Amino acid sequence: MQKEELFSGLAAPSRGSAGGTPASPPSPLGPYVVNQLPADLAAVARGLCTYEELEARQCRLLDTLGVGRHVDGDAAAAPLVQLDLLFMLNGYLPAGPSAFPGPLLDAVSARCARFPALDPYMSYELLIDVNCAEWQRGGDIRVFSEGRLGLLERDFYLGHRLAEPAARTAFERLCAVLREPDAVDTAAEFEAALSALEDFRAHMARFGRLSREAFRAFRPYHMGYQGGPRGASGAFMPSVQLLELVLLAPSRQYERYLDQSLAYFPAWSRPLISEWRERSGRGDNVVEAVLDGRVKTGRGAAGVLLDLVDGFVDFRMVHLGITRKALPEVFAPDDALTRRDILAQDGEGDVLADGEPGTSGFGVHTVLTNAVYRLLAARRLLAELPDRSPADAGGSHV
Ligand code: HEM
Repeated sequence: MQKEELFSGLAAPSRGSAGGTPASPPSPLGPYVVNQLPADLAAVARGLCTYEELEARQCRLLDTLGVGRHVDGDAAAAPLVQLDLLFMLNGYLPAGPSAFPGPLLDAVSARCARFPALDPYMSYELLIDVNCAEWQRGGDIRVFSEGRLGLLERDFYLGHRLAEPAARTAFERLCAVLREPDAVDTAAEFEAALSALEDFRAHMARFGRLSREAFRAFRPYHMGYQGGPRGASGAFMPSVQLLELVLLAPSRQYERYLDQSLAYFPAWSRPLISEWRERSGRGDNVVEAVLDGRVKTGRGAAGVLLDLVDGFVDFRMVHLGITRKALPEVFAPDDALTRRDILAQDGEGDVLADGEPGTSGFGVHTVLTNAVYRLLAARRLLAELPDRSPADAGGSHV
């Protein structure tokens, strides 16, 4: 699928190459979740069916298919079965966690006990990565909404999946600069990271086509709740946070965010995020390496690095604008949210402050403006750096 296809109403967008990935074993719940669940949830929303009736129907299905307390089955199919169970469970979220059916909760717990690597809640990895990989392999995608809305919801998931590799490329290019500062062409690596970030921003911009109404229709199925796990959110897309960590040292508020978030990132990324958090905190990051001269930037590279930080800010500003359109209640009408306003704010706000909790359970306004603020503050330091020619070796440049 190409980003241009996102939110264009295509019933069957191109899947692209599945890269020879073997088909995953099917989940016995797949036919119900893919073909029937959206209609069942729509019937509940329209008052044509009660949650109790839905529960009775789904519990009969669990019994018939044997997806209950006694778990055997294939480890390779386990993530997809878990995704199906959690789609069924999150269908009750609009009524609050007290509506969760016991047999569904038991089935989720039993599978986690049998396959401990499974996330016990709807995580970013299950909702986006497992769901979209299954679609790409030629299977189906799981959505909560019916009809045209379901296609938009599908594109919301696919768009996240499609965008992430660009942020990952930018991260890897910056890693290469830190790993071998004297062996790589720093300006070329920064250029490659910049171009990846432009692509990442362009993916994000496509989300401007998603209407507020459409987003708000399926968002309730993603939300966290008081005392429960955090909801599945772009805040747990790992490559963006890896990129930030390789670029600049974590601030105190960002450390708090990471403390609370680690378990919600995809499993593969957790050790990598921890590693980069530690490395970045002790100075192994591009901004500090450039400021103290470990990474030499001639005139060209220094300029590209500033463009690169701007490119990251651009992504976050586009994201902020789209979020403001989607969730106007989180922002005061006169909220000043230009780059200049954000840089002028008095440091970072409290990510755990009460207020409008986002899908991920953090204060939406604070998390999003902090993220822009940190980049702008780092940019200010870089912009003050005196020009340094590539021939400069060794001495203090700060
Ligand atoms: C309609 C589109 C979108 C809306 C309304 C939206 C909304 C939000 C909200 C409310 C948050 C704050 C945390 C939370 O409550 O979950 C957030 C965080 C975040 N979202 Fe999105 N999002 C959208 C699309 C995307 C896309 C497409 C990406 C990535 C390509 C993305 C990446 C992020 C990241 C990385 C964060 C954490 C803050 C940061 O590091 O910049 N979001 N989003």
